[in-house]
Amino acid sequence: MPRKIIIDTDPGQDDAVAILLALASPAELEVLGIVAVAGNVGLHHNASNARKIVELAGRPDIPVYAGCARPMRRHLVTAEHVHGETGLNGPDLPEPTIPLQPQHGVDYIIDTLMAAEPGTITLCTLGPLTNIGMALVKQPAIADRIAEIVMMGGAYFEVGNITPAAEFNIYVDPEAADVVLRCGAPITMLPLDVTHQIQSTPERLEAIRNLGNRTGEAVHAMLTFSETFDLLKYGWAGAPLHDPTVIAWLLQPDLFEGRHCNVSIETASELTVGMTVADYWHVTGKVRNVTYLRNGNADGFFRLLTERLALLP
Ligand code: BDR
Ligand code: CA
Repeated sequence: MPRKIIIDTDPGQDDAVAILLALASPAELEVLGIVAVAGNVGLHHNASNARKIVELAGRPDIPVYAGCARPMRRHLVTAEHVHGETGLNGPDLPEPTIPLQPQHGVDYIIDTLMAAEPGTITLCTLGPLTNIGMALVKQPAIADRIAEIVMMGGAYFEVGNITPAAEFNIYVDPEAADVVLRCGAPITMLPLDVTHQIQSTPERLEAIRNLGNRTGEAVHAMLTFSETFDLLKYGWAGAPLHDPTVIAWLLQPDLFEGRHCNVSIETASELTVGMTVADYWHVTGKVRNVTYLRNGNADGFFRLLTERLALLP
């Protein structure tokens, strides 16, 4: 039986690749729905991009919802400087034809969890945690019904990418991240510590383009666009590929290693707001609320990704 997942996302080229990887893996994952959140760019673009991606994958049956248009307490910070004006610059994808679902994304998450057997739905978060935090505030009973939350977010050993201390997804809505990390549901984090090891080198991108399908062509164009900023910034052979690690963890957990420990979010300090403080060495007695992954196998990851993308149109 495939594991049921809801993907909460701000696509985003790397979000798009994560969605494609999930849709290419129906034996393991059943994507119930996709919920857009404000993040990389505004909600309008993110909701439109999510619909473009499911159509690219030949899956117009996947319902796409729009969630929150801004963080809980703060002004929205976006990342057009990485992802382009539309959030998905690079490939020339047609305007989506499927409609956005009329229900608010937060209500969709609540209703779906409340209607399902407890412990049967996994939330995969690829953007700021606003929708999940709002769902937990509106209906706290969902916490006991979530099978697991698997999130791309945070950093500890590699510290920040949007500030010296904070990773983008947590920084955009630290209050929502704080609500989520305290909710009691099982949580796995894929932080920058992992994603900085998962680099899309020219050879790996070329292998995806050479698949010969439209998905491979689009993924190559997306990542070629979005990696420009990071290649300049870090000077590495390839740019980090963040969000698809969430799906890869569900498909092949032996690609990753880490440990169970406390992770807390800084919400007060002006200097380090959004920092994910991981008690990796267990120096406090704080509750171990997160499986914090620290290392990933890049060759194994790109083998999996390339094999799966080959299965799409
Ligand atoms: C995260 O920020 C976004 O720009 C990416 O899509 C990813 O989710 C990495 O910090
Ligand atoms: Ca993202």
